[in-house]
Amino acid sequence: ATNRTFTMIKPDAVANGYIGAILNDIIAGGFKIVAMKYTQLTTESAGNFYAIHKERPFYKDLVNFMTSGPIVAVILEKDNAVEDFRTLIGATDPTKAEAGTIRNKYAQSIEANAVHGSDSDENAEIEGNFFFSQFERF
Ligand code: CMP
Repeated sequence: ATNRTFTMIKPDAVANGYIGAILNDIIAGGFKIVAMKYTQLTTESAGNFYAIHKERPFYKDLVNFMTSGPIVAVILEKDNAVEDFRTLIGATDPTKAEAGTIRNKYAQSIEANAVHGSDSDENAEIEGNFFFSQFERF
């Protein structure tokens, strides 16, 4: 799945009314939507999704934040999807994200950073499978 990545529009960006603007930037960036879902994570599902960060000091806050409201989960397709999407969204810390990137424009803080982007092809596959069955991909 080298041409796919996974993203979430996080609760801060949903609450701030940025779903449309962010999807517009993603599509304008050349990504095609393969699957999309508006949903809210439970403590259990967010804990599982972020299990890789379990030992990090920010884990509990991250789970609380990610369950604080609805999110939009999306599988995206483009050549070089993982890397190109990370370029489009900018650095995790929005104060370090380049001008014009999604996090530069729409994020609030290193935690409430508007969007998630998979960090590898392997994780893109795992994360997409977390939300979507084969019948929900087009
Ligand atoms: P993301 O890369 O989508 O997945 C891990 C998330 O943890 C990250 O976005 C941030 O929302 C959050 N995160 C990463 N580093 C920190 C940090 N130092 N403090 C608080 N939250 C963080």
